[in-house]
Amino acid sequence: MTKYAALILAAAVIAGMSGVGMYVVSALRRTADRPASAGSPKAGHDVRRDVSDTLYQANCAGCHGADGKGGAARGLIDTVFLDIADDATLRRITTSGVPGTAMPAFAIPAGGALTDQQIDTIVRSIRTAGTSAGAVPDSTPPPYSTPTAGDPKRGSEAFATFCARCHGADGRGGQGVQRGSSIVDASYLALVSDQSLRTTVIAGRPDLGAPDWRGNLPTRPMSSDEVSDVVAWLAAQRGMTR
Ligand code: HEC
Ligand code: HEC
Repeated sequence: MTKYAALILAAAVIAGMSGVGMYVVSALRRTADRPASAGSPKAGHDVRRDVSDTLYQANCAGCHGADGKGGAARGLIDTVFLDIADDATLRRITTSGVPGTAMPAFAIPAGGALTDQQIDTIVRSIRTAGTSAGAVPDSTPPPYSTPTAGDPKRGSEAFATFCARCHGADGRGGQGVQRGSSIVDASYLALVSDQSLRTTVIAGRPDLGAPDWRGNLPTRPMSSDEVSDVVAWLAAQRGMTR
């Protein structure tokens, strides 16, 4: 029934220096059918360094990838991602987690096991590993977040313009080479925050071949409003699909 299958990320053991213990991660991922590279990830020499920091490895690698370029959850050293997410954002999310999703809170007062100083160290190591590739050339991505919510009705049009050719007219998955899977699946939408959808639309998922905000159409990039609208449309699909 769904193209997403629940992947029990073999008990991401998050022990080590933090002693957080063990999380069983149930992240929604497609297990098959993933196109090697749809989208049009800008090819070229990848000069990013892996995140070697031991705190990152012990606490984050299980979900965000040992190299920081993505696993069950997005890559944190992706160039566009680091361009839109400032250090305060990285720190805030690491501190408090994202309620209702698999992203845990790591700060001690929030039930985690990391001190503020350890969180700073992790943020620094992500920044250092990611920025060696330099900033996003010649273009300004839409901001990480906006104060105003998008409009689902306009979002439906934006979806048709920017997304349907890969994810299908109704979002349930496309055909052909540049195929993306269903993104209106209830079990997918239930576990993903609106922010994560926004981040995905802006920064793409280079590890999965999903384009960033410039790559949907050959003719023009998405505006910040179009990103907000398409996210509002996706959010409106929660509970409307099976
Ligand atoms: C158990 C799996 C898991 C672990 C461990 C984990 N994350 Fe996450 N992380 C997630 C998921 C899932 C999301 C997306 C949540 C959502 O829907 O907003 C996320 C989101 C994030 C985001 C926001 C990305 C965005 O889309 O804007 C940041 C920053 C982040 N994590 C940092 C970290 C750091 C730093 C660590 C280690 C200290 C860590 N995470 C450990 C699963 C994890
Ligand atoms: C050129 C083809 C293409 C276009 C255009 C495209 N996508 Fe995707 N998208 C992909 C591929 C490939 C993936 C990764 C495989 C998968 O999960 O479907 C993906 C994945 C996703 C995911 C899931 C990411 C995750 O966490 O697993 C979301 C959400 C998404 N796309 C939303 C959108 C939206 C919204 C648009 C329009 C603004 C869009 N995509 C346009 C190809 C495309």
